[in-house]
Amino acid sequence: MTDAPSVSAFAKLDRTPMSTDTLQSDILGQIAAASSPEALEAVRVAAMGKSGSVTALLKTLGGMTPEQRSVEGPRLNGLREAVTAALAARKVELEASALNARLAAERQDITLPVAPALTGSIHPVSQVMDELAEIFADLGFAVATGPEIEDDWHNFSALNIPETHPARAMHDTFYMDQSPPGTRTLLRTHTSPVQIRTMMAQKPPIRIIAPGRVYRSDSDATHTPMFHQVEGLVIDRNVTLANLRWTLETFIKAFFEVDDVTLRFRPSYFPFTEPSVEVDVGYSSQTNKPAGAGEADKWLEVLGSGMVHPRVIAACGLDPDVYQGFAFGCGIDRLAMLKYGMNDLRPFFDADLRWLKHHGFSAFDVPTLSGGVSA
Ligand code: DAH
Repeated sequence: MTDAPSVSAFAKLDRTPMSTDTLQSDILGQIAAASSPEALEAVRVAAMGKSGSVTALLKTLGGMTPEQRSVEGPRLNGLREAVTAALAARKVELEASALNARLAAERQDITLPVAPALTGSIHPVSQVMDELAEIFADLGFAVATGPEIEDDWHNFSALNIPETHPARAMHDTFYMDQSPPGTRTLLRTHTSPVQIRTMMAQKPPIRIIAPGRVYRSDSDATHTPMFHQVEGLVIDRNVTLANLRWTLETFIKAFFEVDDVTLRFRPSYFPFTEPSVEVDVGYSSQTNKPAGAGEADKWLEVLGSGMVHPRVIAACGLDPDVYQGFAFGCGIDRLAMLKYGMNDLRPFFDADLRWLKHHGFSAFDVPTLSGGVSA
């Protein structure tokens, strides 16, 4: 970098147009050669800073006669403007090339094939949830969800399970805190509270399924502290047990992809349904699938269900003399085990890559009724 001429040095210079032109081309050359924001800043300070060369020249205007100033003024201002513009333009260039360098350095080649070892798979539970959503969507059911951290009112009281009811003890509940009854939070022990939330949030007719995680303090070969359930709820005028039976039959046929199925309704007890039934599916040990009356040779218990108890309907602010409905609940993990032939529940949640590879599904096996709900 050349030394900037001082005021006195400039005063001694021959003020021909050339002297400012030379200074200008010198500075513009330095600006063009600056290869980093720091180098550019050094050029700016040397020219336009407090004791910069251009600043020094501008200061000489004060000591000039009006005639000299009318000649030198425009020339020096032109110099200042040219340098200012060149500095700004070079700054933009340097910033753009810094950005391009960063983009080039951070570039990802998204055309690279995925390494086979990194290919994930869809967990059987997720696959079965997708299958359920597909089957029930075709019957006009929407998918509803609710919080996994519930309060005891939604999980128990509104479902006709009062404080003192033995069913509360049967559920092996994980409580979150010791708040007073009604506001006490817990990990939901079943998906049935989604029935309550749905009835309180929307007007009948209601047709929903609610798949999701539930929690109970229980652990052995067939129980894990977290597992999955799907809840079904239909609320309308004139809903009967026959509607329930047809819906479940249609669901079982579609889910297991069989043409015929036989169901057994066993009287049972759930606080939130009246009457309550447990539903067994006729199973053929030959095909290992549900079968019609002629071929089925054993019963498998698949779900709990019944007509929604009038007290539950009333707790949600609906008139039980106008609206009735049916509900059902079943374990999704159990459905997956039955359909895909797995006999131990625990590996479902072990995150063992070999198990996941063997039992998982391709992301492209999207269940559709037309293409087949199973993979
Ligand atoms: N909530 C019950 C459970 O966790 C399952 C169930 C049974 C749900 C009957 C229902 C029903 O909706 O009608 O064991």
